[in-house]
Amino acid sequence: MHIIEKAKEIKTTDASVKSIRIIGSEYVDIELNCPFVAEHALPGQFVMVHTLNETLQNLLYRPFDIAQTDRSNGSFRLLVKITGKETLNLSHLKTEEGIRVTGPLGKGIVDFDSRSIGLLVRGVGSAAVISLAQKARQEGIKVYTFFSASTGERLIGKEYLREFSDELFIITDDGSEGHHGDAREVVSSFLEKREIQSLYTCGSRRFARYVQGLNREGKTEGYIFLEELMGCGIGYCHGCAVKKAKAEGYYLVCVDGPIFSADEVEIP
Ligand SMILES: Cc1cc2nc3c(=O)[nH]c(=O)nc-3n(C[C@H](O)[C@H](O)[C@H](O)COP(=O)(O)OP(=O)(O)OC[C@H]3O[C@@H](n4cnc5c(N)ncnc54)[C@H](O)[C@@H]3O)c2cc1C
Ligand code: FES
Repeated sequence: MHIIEKAKEIKTTDASVKSIRIIGSEYVDIELNCPFVAEHALPGQFVMVHTLNETLQNLLYRPFDIAQTDRSNGSFRLLVKITGKETLNLSHLKTEEGIRVTGPLGKGIVDFDSRSIGLLVRGVGSAAVISLAQKARQEGIKVYTFFSASTGERLIGKEYLREFSDELFIITDDGSEGHHGDAREVVSSFLEKREIQSLYTCGSRRFARYVQGLNREGKTEGYIFLEELMGCGIGYCHGCAVKKAKAEGYYLVCVDGPIFSADEVEIP
């Protein structure tokens, strides 16, 4: 179990690029100077980002997980997959270039009440759980990470997850790195022999449904990071609504999530 809180301090602020690293043809690792977010962010929270390239395509800010924070130097890290115009703009940023950031947003984890956690992650979904793994490790909680991607090149953020995991299992669809196959099978066989008290998943709806199943069967306590299309990130546009599982109505992923208990939401 974990204890989560809503963002208390939210601000739109200037940030500048401290470092930027292009990884292969699809990913970018960006460290931003932004003392406000670095100071206030909790594991699990995200930011809305806007490059200063004034085109209609980036009229709306875009959501990204706060992958890591460094309070000592006032910076935080984004791991970005290039999927369209604004993520391409982000990949073209230069060191010291400015962007606008709103955050930290969503609910974040302030404490754990578990001896062990598992992270079942697909691709760039790693960005949502790196700081969570870091916090758990600092508190002496065992961290078991199951990191899956279609190919080895898409295991983005692997070095950070390795640093903060007690055990890291790599699984690829094509067998180019680690175990060849389906990460769900690796988790299932782990759970036959060993315990994971709370299992978090991000980056795959198939994994989210699987974690819901494990939670229902009482095999572990499941938590799901949801990523819906977001217009505002602060609860106004209702673009990110997902159906509640145990009641009538909808949650807004941007303010009620992005982390949900596995039995709370219907996976879209
Ligand atoms: C809470 C949250 C956290 C996220 N964290 C990360 C992260 O850490 N790293 C990362 O690379 N991406 C993350 N995403 C997804 C990211 O926001 C989108 O990939 C991005 O907004 C696409 O912008 P674009 O202008 O490049 O693409 P667009 O031209 O807007 O769209 C390109 C393609 O991406 C899809 N897309 C657009 N927005 C989203 C979205 N919100 N979720 C899923 N698919 C989308 C579109 O449907 C389209 O197929 C996150 C999304 C949410 C909601
Ligand atoms: S993104 Fe606008 S309400 Fe959630």
